[in-house]
Amino acid sequence: MIFQKASSPLRGELTVPGDKSISHRAVMFGALANGTTEVTNFLHGADCLSTIDCFRRLGIEIFDTPERILIHGKGLHGLSAPSEMLDTGNSGTTTRLISGILCGQSFDTTLNGDASIQSRPMLRIMDPLSQMGAQIRSLRGNNCAPLQITGGARLHGIHYNSPVASAQVKSSILLAGLYAEGKTSVTEPNLSRNHTELMLRGFGADVRSEGTTAVITPEPELVGMKISVPGDISSAAYFIAAGLMVPGSELLIRNVGINPTRDGILRVVKDMGADITILNEAIAGGEPVADLLVRYSSLHGVEIGGAIIPTLIDELPMIAVLACLAEGTTVIRDAAELKVKESNRIDVVVNHLKAMGARIEATDDGMIIEGGTPLHGAVIDSHLDHRIAMSFAIGALAADGETEILGADCVKISYPEFYDTCRMLLK
Ligand code: S3P
Repeated sequence: MIFQKASSPLRGELTVPGDKSISHRAVMFGALANGTTEVTNFLHGADCLSTIDCFRRLGIEIFDTPERILIHGKGLHGLSAPSEMLDTGNSGTTTRLISGILCGQSFDTTLNGDASIQSRPMLRIMDPLSQMGAQIRSLRGNNCAPLQITGGARLHGIHYNSPVASAQVKSSILLAGLYAEGKTSVTEPNLSRNHTELMLRGFGADVRSEGTTAVITPEPELVGMKISVPGDISSAAYFIAAGLMVPGSELLIRNVGINPTRDGILRVVKDMGADITILNEAIAGGEPVADLLVRYSSLHGVEIGGAIIPTLIDELPMIAVLACLAEGTTVIRDAAELKVKESNRIDVVVNHLKAMGARIEATDDGMIIEGGTPLHGAVIDSHLDHRIAMSFAIGALAADGETEILGADCVKISYPEFYDTCRMLLK
């Protein structure tokens, strides 16, 4: 797919699709609850459809329309053995969270995903889940999927000091904790997104949070509920960036989730000098939401590291592109997790931005960017990583000449309407 430099300002209003993390959790927890869970503004991206598919194979009836989904939960012990291997597609969240749930079941399961999933680290969940008494192993012995989980294990609560700030690891352990004897707690080095804690509490679970520790005490049941999914700030990030980088732009992005464990992008671009106004703050589905008014701004470089990293981890490719257009130096550190996402996002971002003329170097845990050099178009291989495709499609709007995105279709993972929205704004 070919992109050109934007020839006029981007102006108007838009909404972004439902939050991916929250959509996954709504299906999973709805399946484990008694009664029906109704979800509106569900993200119909390929990752969340993988979660739906897995739970259907586990015997859960899920009614899916564009407006809403209905999950007919069968309770904590209502899942049934799938007849085949579960396919988690490209979704790390599905793979890691469902593993925690499956460790507590009476039946055996095997799960696998696409080539990217088969290279992503699973020891980070296998280790703590095994400590809880789970029987989980990597079928190829490489600590990656396919994973085999043997049912019937008696789980017991643990306290886990996680070496990484990862909501997928934390959530996998907390979900296994639903089936364990005694309390289960997880302490992270920095707080990762807390959607699992917030939503499980909404379903009636006993989950407490203090600082970077979350504790779950098993309850006999979860109860179905209604969930209105906020717009995904990780999807809004692309249009926040577009509004900031294309001269004269003014965009109003409505109904975006601004949970403080996810809003690092807002804090960073404000530090860079961005003109963003947060309007109409409200609560939806137990999560804070707001409208974001974004105006073209001249930006300067910043240092990004420490506790803010988990709150913007998926936005770092887009932030790196913005930093190339900002004046001065931007340093991104403490972000080694980027190497184990859908692609190695340090290498891929640095190589592509170099190809576009940027002055940028990779480091062990991030990158250093000398901004202010004009970008030019290049051929960008998405590596089938949705966030790479979208970050560079937006970067192309500020680059001279033509940018070609290879494997552009992968945006369907988290934002199927992404190119339609681009076209609408570029008219
Ligand atoms: C997610 C957690 C993050 C994030 C991913 C979604 C989640 O991953 O990158 O896109 O829904 O819990 P990690 O937990 O591996 O950091």
